Amino acid sequence: METHPFAAAPAGSPTLDSLPVEPLLTSEFDTDPGSVYERLRSTYGPVAPVGLMGVPVWLVLDYREVLEVLRNDTVWRRDVRHWRARAERRLPRDWPLLAGYEVRQTMFLDDEEHRAARLTHHSAMRPFQDGHSPEGWELRAAVAKYADDLIALLAAESGTSGFADLAAQYTRPLLLMVTTKLFGCPVELGDEMVMDLWRMLDGGPDAGPATERALGAMTRLAAHRRSRPGEDLTSYMLLSDPSLSDEQLGRELFMNAVYLNDITGNMVCNTLLEVLRGNATVRRSVATGQLGETVNRAALVNPPTANLCFRFAGRDVRLGNFWIRAGDIVSPSVAAAHRDLLAIGTSHLVDSTVSTRAHLAWGAGPHQCPSAARELAGMIVTTAVGRIFEHFARAELTLPPDQLPWRTGPVVRGLRLLPVRYELSAGAPVAGRAGGPGASAGVAAGAGDDGAALAGVAPEPSGRGGSGLLGALRRMMFGGRRGGG
Ligand code: HEM
Repeated sequence: METHPFAAAPAGSPTLDSLPVEPLLTSEFDTDPGSVYERLRSTYGPVAPVGLMGVPVWLVLDYREVLEVLRNDTVWRRDVRHWRARAERRLPRDWPLLAGYEVRQTMFLDDEEHRAARLTHHSAMRPFQDGHSPEGWELRAAVAKYADDLIALLAAESGTSGFADLAAQYTRPLLLMVTTKLFGCPVELGDEMVMDLWRMLDGGPDAGPATERALGAMTRLAAHRRSRPGEDLTSYMLLSDPSLSDEQLGRELFMNAVYLNDITGNMVCNTLLEVLRGNATVRRSVATGQLGETVNRAALVNPPTANLCFRFAGRDVRLGNFWIRAGDIVSPSVAAAHRDLLAIGTSHLVDSTVSTRAHLAWGAGPHQCPSAARELAGMIVTTAVGRIFEHFARAELTLPPDQLPWRTGPVVRGLRLLPVRYELSAGAPVAGRAGGPGASAGVAAGAGDDGAALAGVAPEPSGRGGSGLLGALRRMMFGGRRGGG
């Protein structure tokens, strides 16, 4: 690829602002983003100008170009201050996608500042990375137990066969329970926090206030763990970098919460969906018990972060058929790159078959998901998916795949619901049995202490504990220890 290291864009070559742009977020994009990527590719080549809520953005579509943007951080900068349109105050007022980018944390730092921040994440996460340390072992056991408890609750509420939403009744509460434990939250995190993260990522009209709420909760958590350290990620981040202020640690936790709840949850749902919709190669990997392969294959077809975070050109550079000007905004599309990769599976880029590990769902280059976080997330996804396969004798979608409700947004390819008709197997966990919910109050070790100090981490929607599945969950996790300390 020609990058013309020191060349400036030739006079007269089209600029992003001068090109007509097609809005990316349409109902067609919600239902069939692949067709939109293909049309853009056939019109413009590997890089296309698109409109994102009224702002022109370069969307990078081909695998080779996406990899170049992800790997070359000297040209493709992360700090939003490199964005010319923002610096020149040309963005629409309250442009909803900006809220998340104004939260200055590891992902949006460059150079030495980025390397130091990344190291803090890495060392704080390392104890949880594998099952050899006490923290790693305990977390693994907890994830499996939470999954079993949720399946038992489902059986208690809806019977051993019936209808369920595997997004709202299984995946989201599971990840909230994991986050509560891993982060050392003294009060339970509620579904409301996940909805705020959706609002921020999808660019909802209230993205700004939603971001502030989630950030506020994480900052209070940081302050709490500073005064009461435990064996959790928040406390380990402080150990790793004691100079972190509550506000900065809150920002880092906020970003981790996005990945741990929303992105990990989407990887669980998207993997389950590929199996349920009958993707033959995905199913074959399930049949042979290769869950890691199942997740990789599903991530190739439908990566949870369809389009990665924006990059900003550090100088004029040619990419695809265009000259990108210094300060232009660029969005690398993992979903489009994967389509390209699958289409060229037998070409020069990959050997005779595409390795499923060539997927870019974890990113690539200096900002890729840190290895400890990947291990952790991979364990959570395979456990969550594996427990469903283990305990469900049958599960089928209750909607045709092309009628499933997807979220509208540029970043995440996520289902609003994953509705199934199910039948549990004979050995599935049942509420009340030893080890089932009710027997498990306090599974979130470290939770429940000093909850009052964090009042407002998660607003409680329906009184103490609430009703229905989430209420049962709250009682299960915190038992009689709520508000103690
Ligand atoms: C299945 C779940 C996950 C997926 C698919 C995923 C994917 C990614 C991707 C694609 C990036 C790079 C984004 C970009 O370059 O624009 C990233 C970065 C990151 N992820 Fe993950 N991630 C997952 C889970 C997690 C978890 C559980 C954590 C921590 C609790 C985490 C922590 C991070 C951090 C700290 C970064 C920023 C790295 C940097 O900028 O240097 N991730 N992740």
